[in-house]
Amino acid sequence: MRSHFPFFQSHLDLAHDYWRHLVAAGDCVIDATCGNGHDSLLLAQLALTPDAGRLYALDIQPQAIAAAQMLVSGALPPAIVERIAFCLQSHAEFPADIAPASVKLIVYNLGYLPGGDKAITTSVESTVASILAAQELLLPGGVISITCYPGHAEGAREEDFLISHTRQLPPQLWSCTWQRWINRRHAPSLLLLQKGAAPSAP
Ligand SMILES: C[S@@+](CC[C@H](N)C(=O)[O-])C[C@H]1O[C@@H](n2cnc3c(N)ncnc32)[C@H](O)[C@@H]1O
Repeated sequence: MRSHFPFFQSHLDLAHDYWRHLVAAGDCVIDATCGNGHDSLLLAQLALTPDAGRLYALDIQPQAIAAAQMLVSGALPPAIVERIAFCLQSHAEFPADIAPASVKLIVYNLGYLPGGDKAITTSVESTVASILAAQELLLPGGVISITCYPGHAEGAREEDFLISHTRQLPPQLWSCTWQRWINRRHAPSLLLLQKGAAPSAP
């Protein structure tokens, strides 16, 4: 085997690998922090065809929505782009037309917009509300993928909350993993929550 260093992928490469294994053409997926649109672009490539699939891309900053729209419009055919709903709103609430138990993958890349105002960042309050809502929207077998950035104060609080919350989820209903670099201070981490099948009636 060819050796190279570091062999382990970045948290984003790792997240993208999981998404590629999970998402199929025709799925409904959500990018809850679309930012400049890099994650939305990959989600669109995985989930959308001209006739099927849906991507909701949310952000609270107009400049992020504009950047994401420009990125995907430059990379994908119009018939695919039409299947993306760009939503200028907080992920504390999701668009009302998303049915419970209908979404395969919900993605969060927490923190601030690269190249934007670092004071505008995801916050514990809205992230908490959003994760609880996201759990209801997931299909059985669906996944919530969260990249955390504990290198700044709010990011550290978000990661703490998310880990405490996730530890309490019943293992019969949720499969959860947390992947991080243990010898790099403040390195980003990747948290994944998979919803199990609904318990059958007695
Ligand atoms: C790290 S960036 C996302 C990067 C993006 N995934 C990409 O591929 O370019 C985090 C984004 O979250 C957005 N954000 C902050 N609070 C939010 C909220 N409550 N709801 C939705 N988006 C939020 C920020 O505006 C910022 O664009």
